[in-house]
Amino acid sequence: MEIIHETNSADETRSIGRMIASTMLPQTLLCLRGDLGAGKTTLTQGLLEGFGALRPYTSPTFVIMKQYDLPIATSTGIKRIYHADAYRVDSEDFHMLGFEEWCADPQGVVILEWPERVENILPKHRKEITLKALSEITRSICIS
Ligand SMILES: Nc1ncnc2c1ncn2[C@@H]1O[C@H](COP(=O)(O)OP(=O)(O)OP(=O)(O)O)[C@@H](O)[C@H]1O
Ligand SMILES: [Mg+2]
Repeated sequence: MEIIHETNSADETRSIGRMIASTMLPQTLLCLRGDLGAGKTTLTQGLLEGFGALRPYTSPTFVIMKQYDLPIATSTGIKRIYHADAYRVDSEDFHMLGFEEWCADPQGVVILEWPERVENILPKHRKEITLKALSEITRSICIS
């Protein structure tokens, strides 16, 4: 099944992120696909808000992965969020950094930008979201 949302501002995209967070179960890998500037990090900010992660929500492009330990576990038992960005790495780097361990955390959710960079080590069981810029301010967000 696919659900497609259209948003007309970064704030609207963040609110879709909050909504998605409320449906997530622990030990889930969420792959965010889309071009540069499509809104992957913006959507992640909404997800982090929804999970109740403490700010600041900085982009992990340079640090590769940023871990958020939630002050309060979600009602579904999520305690940690791993926000990762594979733009600057390859599968081997990602493996060395512990990608498989993040995905196997029974109380974790992994949010991954640029999954295409590490496609060959992605587990089969995962959620996919694809973002597209339809104009300067409009984005489509496809959840499958
Ligand atoms: N409807 C919208 N939804 C999300 N972002 C929007 C929207 N309209 C405009 N924007 C702007 O688009 C940009 C999206 O940037 P963002 O960092 O989220 O993209 P990204 O997909 O993470 O890019 P990158 O591949 O570089 O990490 C922001 O500057 C944001 O303000
Ligand atoms: Mg980004």
